[in-house]
Amino acid sequence: MSEATHQQAPTDQAQTWRDDFSRVLSPVFGSPQLDLVRGEGSYVWDAAGKKYLDLLAGIAVNALGHCHPAWVKAITEQASTLGHISNFFTSPAQIGLAEKLHEVLDLPAGSAVFFSNSGTEANEAAFKMARRAAGGGRPFIIAIEGAFHGRTMGALALTAKEAYREPFAPGVPGVVHVPYGDVEALEAAINENTAAVFIEPVQGEVGVRTHPAGYLTAVRELTTKVGALMILDEVQSGIGRTGSWFAHQDPEIGEGITPDIITSAKGLGGGMPIGATITVGDANTGLLEAGQHGTTFGGNPIACAAGLAVLETIEKDNLLDHVSEVSDWLKAQLAEVDGIGEITGKGLLLGLELTGGASGDSATGAADAQVPDSKAVAARALEAGFIINPVAPGRVRLAPPLTITTDELTPFIEALPGLITG
Ligand SMILES: Cc1ncc(COP(=O)(O)O)c(C=O)c1O
Repeated sequence: MSEATHQQAPTDQAQTWRDDFSRVLSPVFGSPQLDLVRGEGSYVWDAAGKKYLDLLAGIAVNALGHCHPAWVKAITEQASTLGHISNFFTSPAQIGLAEKLHEVLDLPAGSAVFFSNSGTEANEAAFKMARRAAGGGRPFIIAIEGAFHGRTMGALALTAKEAYREPFAPGVPGVVHVPYGDVEALEAAINENTAAVFIEPVQGEVGVRTHPAGYLTAVRELTTKVGALMILDEVQSGIGRTGSWFAHQDPEIGEGITPDIITSAKGLGGGMPIGATITVGDANTGLLEAGQHGTTFGGNPIACAAGLAVLETIEKDNLLDHVSEVSDWLKAQLAEVDGIGEITGKGLLLGLELTGGASGDSATGAADAQVPDSKAVAARALEAGFIINPVAPGRVRLAPPLTITTDELTPFIEALPGLITG
């Protein structure tokens, strides 16, 4: 977009960038809501100079907020030193980030990190590892109803929503979806032909929900029993989002289980594209030997330098405790808001059920005329200067920067009743 475009009057400006967008970009994301030009901390600004409190953080990506000085410094220093090399070589940034991941996950010897560029790619690598599980020859992988694992063909096969999969049939074969939270159904589905169970410790895209107590333990026990891998997709829930480095390290969520493979992305790069597939202990044995997988950009020094800055800043600034403290405050405030029902999730990955105020009946769900349309609530929020996500009918997702403060959140809490009722 030209400089001239940004200098036009606000109303013309909005129409111009919308026109520009539809002329040159794919329609796959629909029409963009804003033309954003700048970010700082918990805020972003659009081309007309309007300021927004970013309660979505690029969908759980901007862990340190926008343009955090440590993140900017790491990227610019790395870019001016060594920007890209192939995977014929390694770099201090790549080794440093892998070492830090080993440290925060307290990984046993033999554990290994494979870097890629996104969550879907991290899961795609884990999918290939699952195909090699137990020496190969196990045709089935189990995924969970409500799961979202990405959009490439392997990750898409794991994703539960049929509307995402159907247009691209035939999909990758062998994936079986079992009902959410149902241990008996899992027991009935899993056997010696199962290569792996893929599971998000917190399902994000379905509206932010954890699993019923005992479910992750049952997944661990059953996968161990049949010799299948337990693969945790922590693309959204990891990197401090729930108040632990990774959600499964929270005893309430993870119930003390140790997975075989962990996938990470989103917050890991804090805004730089990166994914990681982490095999725990000897889980790498027989999986992805030299030459069986690859990537040009995975492990890129700039992305790894950004990732290292994210992890070091979370540690240095004690952001895990900060997330838990702000979350406790936020949940207490939200519980007092008329029109908010159930609050799901943990830390700064929260799902809010919209009940439509005192007269609403949450039990009847979105069909109840009293339950506000989450998209309409998000549109009103945007108008008022708050970015929130209408993740599902009657549900809103909040995933702000881990650095957000209670002072920054207060205007949103004050505005919320009006945003819900309209
Ligand atoms: C749990 C989970 N897995 C995988 C993905 C896909 O990640 P990406 O969009 O980086 O490919 C997402 C994205 O929303 C996700 O939430």
